[in-house]
Amino acid sequence: MKNRFSRIGFILAAAGSAVGLGNIWKFPYITGEYGGGAFVLVYLLAIMFIGLTVFLAEAVIGQNAQANVATSFIETSKSKNENWKIAGFMIATGLILLSFYSVVLGWILSYVFSSFGTLPADAKTAGAAFDTLITKDLATQLLYHTLIAGTVIFIVLKGIKDGIEKINLILMPFLGIILIGLLMYAISLDSFSKAVSFMFVADWSKINSDALLAALGQAFFTLSLGVGTILTYSASLPKEANFVKSSIMVALVDTGIALIAGLIIFSFLFEAGAPSAAGPGLVFISLPVIFSGWGLLGKIIAISFFVALVFAGITSAVSMIEPSLMFFIERFKMTRKKATLLCGSVFYLLGIVALLSMSTTYGSSLTFFGKNAFDLMDFASSSVMMPTAAIVICLFLGYFVDKTMLQEKFTKHTSVLFFNVWYFLIRYVVPIAITILFLNQLGLI
Ligand code: TRP
Repeated sequence: MKNRFSRIGFILAAAGSAVGLGNIWKFPYITGEYGGGAFVLVYLLAIMFIGLTVFLAEAVIGQNAQANVATSFIETSKSKNENWKIAGFMIATGLILLSFYSVVLGWILSYVFSSFGTLPADAKTAGAAFDTLITKDLATQLLYHTLIAGTVIFIVLKGIKDGIEKINLILMPFLGIILIGLLMYAISLDSFSKAVSFMFVADWSKINSDALLAALGQAFFTLSLGVGTILTYSASLPKEANFVKSSIMVALVDTGIALIAGLIIFSFLFEAGAPSAAGPGLVFISLPVIFSGWGLLGKIIAISFFVALVFAGITSAVSMIEPSLMFFIERFKMTRKKATLLCGSVFYLLGIVALLSMSTTYGSSLTFFGKNAFDLMDFASSSVMMPTAAIVICLFLGYFVDKTMLQEKFTKHTSVLFFNVWYFLIRYVVPIAITILFLNQLGLI
């Protein structure tokens, strides 16, 4: 029997993929930068009309073909055209993404352990500690990157059912419990109401085209789109399962967790009188200082918070490598072990290049086109390859797949109207929106 998800296993694993550093770290810090409420509203619209549309697109291709990315495109296309194997390029995106995601998760894991010691008392100390970690302390980074990479490899070696589904079954409820605990603490703070109005009362003055594009980019990133992850997971979804309902559930869980993380973090920031626009240093610099002011309770909160981030990140990380594993297993008849060793070594070594590229010692020799290797991998995957894949997915379904077949798949589970709206979005609205985002990220507009 094929190694596949149960329906609830699929929802948990896809939600595990979607919920990651993007929700708990990036969403709050960009919401802070773009001034709160209005940005949140734009983001919710982007999730509903653009993110969910592409999510459903990946899901319908995967569930229909029940195969790896390349084969799924070929099988789903009207003409069963072999050339569609080119869509297989997206598996590389996941590996590149995973290389530096593993390094960042390593930093967070190191913060779990350092939170047991003394937390930094002010922003200057915290900033210096973080700076030392990423520019000088290569041994520590290497150790934690190795621990994270090892964990990811260990999990995916066991396969979909016994590896990926199981780890999500354990970590996702844990993550939920920690976040609910942190939320309850946030609710008990005086600043909670301020956080609520910051996030839900719209101030349109901060919304410009940058904010709109940031919301759109975040909607993509947070739903793990354009990497073939959702497609690959959906290929292991039972053929009769309701992919529409499952997709909506995943988007709801992902959005709910981003909003909860935002409420928690803004309550903490406001309580400490810290500015809402903390930037990327939010998690590594601003929060540790706040926790340090709260004594023993602060320590417990710090540890729980960083553990939650590690859990959220691990369930995303395993989903970044799975598309390449399935590709090599099916198309090159590799064993799962061999495919994992191959792809595992690629992302592990690329991760080492990424971490060396930020060090004061090796940085200069690992800088290309004015970007260090870490930033370059981030740029190549999130700003170039993911939007390209998303455009390919939309054009593929909109113009190269039999419409009647698609309509049948959708209307098994939902109304014709729903399908028509989706089809319109996939043919016109989403490709245009992503093209604009893409050109903007390349600095062309
Ligand atoms: N969604 C993940 C997060 O919010 C990150 C992510 C982006 C991702 N693309 C992905 C995860 C592809 C898995 C696969 O952190």
